[in-house]
Amino acid sequence: MNVPKNANPHLFIVIGGTGDLMRRKLLPALLQLRRQDAFGDEFVLLSVGRRKWSDDRYRQWVREAMKETAVDSTDLQHWCDEYVYYQSIDEGEGYAPLPPRIEAIEKDHGLPGNRVFYLAIPPGVFPTAVQQLGETKLAKSRGWTRLVVEKPFGRDLQSAQELNRIAQQHFDESQIYRIDHYLGKETVQNLAIFRFANMLFESVWSRQYVANVQITVAEDLGVEQRAGYYENSGALRDMIQNHATQLLTLIAMDAPPRFDADAVRDEKLRVLRAVEPIGVDDVVFGQYDKGEIQDQQVAAYRNEDGVESDSTTETYVALKLSLDNWRWHGVPFYLRTGKRLPRKTSEIAIVFREPPVCLFQPLGQCAVIPDVLRLRIQPDEAFNLAFDIKVPGTPLQLVQRSLEFRYADVFEKLPDAYQTLLLDIVNGDQTHFVRADEVEASWRLYTPLLDNRAERSLYTAGTWGPAEADRLIEPCGAQWQTGTHDE
Ligand code: BG6
Repeated sequence: MNVPKNANPHLFIVIGGTGDLMRRKLLPALLQLRRQDAFGDEFVLLSVGRRKWSDDRYRQWVREAMKETAVDSTDLQHWCDEYVYYQSIDEGEGYAPLPPRIEAIEKDHGLPGNRVFYLAIPPGVFPTAVQQLGETKLAKSRGWTRLVVEKPFGRDLQSAQELNRIAQQHFDESQIYRIDHYLGKETVQNLAIFRFANMLFESVWSRQYVANVQITVAEDLGVEQRAGYYENSGALRDMIQNHATQLLTLIAMDAPPRFDADAVRDEKLRVLRAVEPIGVDDVVFGQYDKGEIQDQQVAAYRNEDGVESDSTTETYVALKLSLDNWRWHGVPFYLRTGKRLPRKTSEIAIVFREPPVCLFQPLGQCAVIPDVLRLRIQPDEAFNLAFDIKVPGTPLQLVQRSLEFRYADVFEKLPDAYQTLLLDIVNGDQTHFVRADEVEASWRLYTPLLDNRAERSLYTAGTWGPAEADRLIEPCGAQWQTGTHDE
């Protein structure tokens, strides 16, 4: 990854620094950035957790955790010994030990008081953590301070508003970084470039030329070891309210007047405000039953570890959204996500309208296949534009073929989303983070649906979800572009 050298010395504080997120995502990304010298020489880490550990014990944990990753760990020992600290806290005293510890570390390293506070803790404790952190007054340092909150930000409109209220009591909105890791993916960041740096696509990006838009975020994995979280979440909260909706805003927004954080987020917010309330008939909830994926038998959701045997939690959602604005009126947007689908893929399909007149009918060929632009977010990142051509020779026959651009053919390796986002945080760029009004607008759309989720259909693991999802899309004469039921 091309990273600017950063002369922005700071203390990176991770609350929940012994957890899974730290081990799997943050630590590898931080170390990779350090290796690229993105944080300058003085990159100092303070982890905060409940375990009664010393600095040395934590450093040992870091070294062990890094053995599981591919990040080059040369000089890790030296960095750990010199720049990594640990502070244990217990419930009674809250964050009281933090101010003296932070100030001592900053003094030792000659840091100017710049601080990142990253909440890598379970979502249920975000409000208390933000409140306690605020009370320490650590947010008011002599340098800059940034608060990073992981998803899910709230579990409905009310809790998101409450969390925003607490956070904004202690931090200015310009200090708050709400993470949606999809916004750190290279192909997601490229959506704005694809649309607004190229006249070609933007000129057909409207109701006049587009028949429907489909956003699919599919996973072959099941709930894995996360039943505790997932049983209280479900696919609507876990994937639709955030990741799929962020993709929707980037696809549907108008060009911002400038490419800066507030201008971009104003346009995304306008999209969310244009979405009409979602009717109960426009949503399909599903839960996976046992089945087979890539020749492996997999268990039903209800038989997964930690899942209630009568659980009604949805592992699949498909829904239809309508945007009541000048650009998109009458164009359905379909959002779909699910676990235990045939394969992992995130893809946006822009399905174009058929030509107004079927010129080739007299020649016995009217079945024009609509042109489709596929933006493959992951894996095998690519754009693919499919259109009709004439099969050489007679009789006249049309066939669909495509032009494809694959990242892998041109670029070696795409940066990890967390690396990109962590760098943005340290550089103070909020463009790829979710603003308070945006997160509330998104919850405003989905909160009314949360109570209807018990109405869900079973689908066999390894298929593309319940048949009802086809009935959602077929009335507009369309079909799902990603996957088919017999794949
Ligand atoms: C997370 C969800 O936000 O995104 C997970 O909590 C999901 O359930 C994951 O598996 C998918 O992310 P990615 O980057 O693998 O598509």
